[in-house]
Amino acid sequence: MRTINTEHFWMPFTANRQFKAKPRLLSAAQGMYYTSEDGRQILDGTAGLWCVNAGHNHPKIVAAIQAQAATLDFAPTFQMAHPLAFEAATALVEIAPEGLNRVFFCNDGSEAVDTALKIALAYHKARGDAGRFRFIGRERAYHGVGFGGISVGGIAGNRKQFGPALSGIDHLKHPLNIAINAFSKGQPESGAELADELEARILALHDPSSIAALIVEPIQGSTGVIIPPQGYLIRLSQICQKYGILLIFDEVITGFGRLGTAFGADYFDVTPDMIICAKGLSNAAVPMGAVLVKQMIHDGLMQAAAPDQIEFFHGYTYSAHPLACAAAIATLEVYREEKLFERAAQMSPYFEQAAHSLRDISIVKDIRNCGLVCGIELEPQTGRSTTRAYDVFEKCFWEKNVLIRTTGDIIALSPPLIISKSEIDRLFSDLRAALLECTNT
Ligand SMILES: Cc1ncc(COP(=O)(O)O)c(C=O)c1O
Repeated sequence: MRTINTEHFWMPFTANRQFKAKPRLLSAAQGMYYTSEDGRQILDGTAGLWCVNAGHNHPKIVAAIQAQAATLDFAPTFQMAHPLAFEAATALVEIAPEGLNRVFFCNDGSEAVDTALKIALAYHKARGDAGRFRFIGRERAYHGVGFGGISVGGIAGNRKQFGPALSGIDHLKHPLNIAINAFSKGQPESGAELADELEARILALHDPSSIAALIVEPIQGSTGVIIPPQGYLIRLSQICQKYGILLIFDEVITGFGRLGTAFGADYFDVTPDMIICAKGLSNAAVPMGAVLVKQMIHDGLMQAAAPDQIEFFHGYTYSAHPLACAAAIATLEVYREEKLFERAAQMSPYFEQAAHSLRDISIVKDIRNCGLVCGIELEPQTGRSTTRAYDVFEKCFWEKNVLIRTTGDIIALSPPLIISKSEIDRLFSDLRAALLECTNT
């Protein structure tokens, strides 16, 4: 094994000192498996970080990136462009819900979140409605790490180091209610009425005409897989429409087949005004994010500026980077050619059954699932939060050769959409063994 100097890389969202004492290194990948630095095949139960939906190193995506790197390394998209930028936008619109047919490219989910928030503000201003400056998010929401994203986000740990970020933000309660809905399969039956908090809050505390947008993840992923109760998202959307509030779906995790449909919007039958996406857009092979926007929003901004003026003062050097576009076009083709969204839908009942088979384990407090994602919430160790799930994670990696993800005391699984039944069996039987071995700690 190589000797690696781990001193200089400051790792994101990582307990750096703990990690560096015993590094977990991945050196190669193919399909459903990583190869660890010490040569083991590791079953990927998390699609990397909820992103490698088509499986690792897909030959078509690899070839597209290699060819593009040798043809056009970079071209600016400020007052210039290259053909793939338009082709990638068109390919994305082809799978988007009806009406969301304008695409703003960026490099990741966090940039896409901040882009969507800016579009919302600029749109209202362009319509002469600049009084709409407030955003509403939800407790436990994760919207990336930009200042906009942490402000509308609702995970305390991601905010408290940084003092006040954006002002004028309010948060609704999250819809997780383990006391009533524990071990629900798919969408919990109870809780649609939580959406009414939006109307109550804006009427009691804010003038509805001051609200620019509501931003929600259809499924709250990073905070531990919170599935929206039946009817809840539809009700949120109705309230938004009633008060002229834009609805933004953050689909960085739920996009690209995770639920067996192109987007969560399709699965939950709600059409938002904007969809934020990233991760599975390019199969994570080259970083890319995007905001899908309803045409009326785009046109509102176009019409507010003279034809020879810049309509939206926003963009990134790497917006629609050629390599990212090549990766996205190839990825979207792979999803279509291999029918991966349909495959995920077909595999979901099997995955659900496997996930809920862990219910009898004494430390398992709740299991939540939808499509090919599930959250398994554990009873914390006495007096110590987060350590139990971390112990399971370490055991899975070192002893079972399986990669899982944990957040707090919750295990989140979101495998590539190519997972087979026998790999689902292996994932959950190894996890069962690890959970049992960590039960008495
Ligand atoms: C819902 C959601 N929004 C935004 C982000 C941020 O994406 P990125 O890490 O690519 O900036 C994530 C990342 O997991 C996410 O889950």
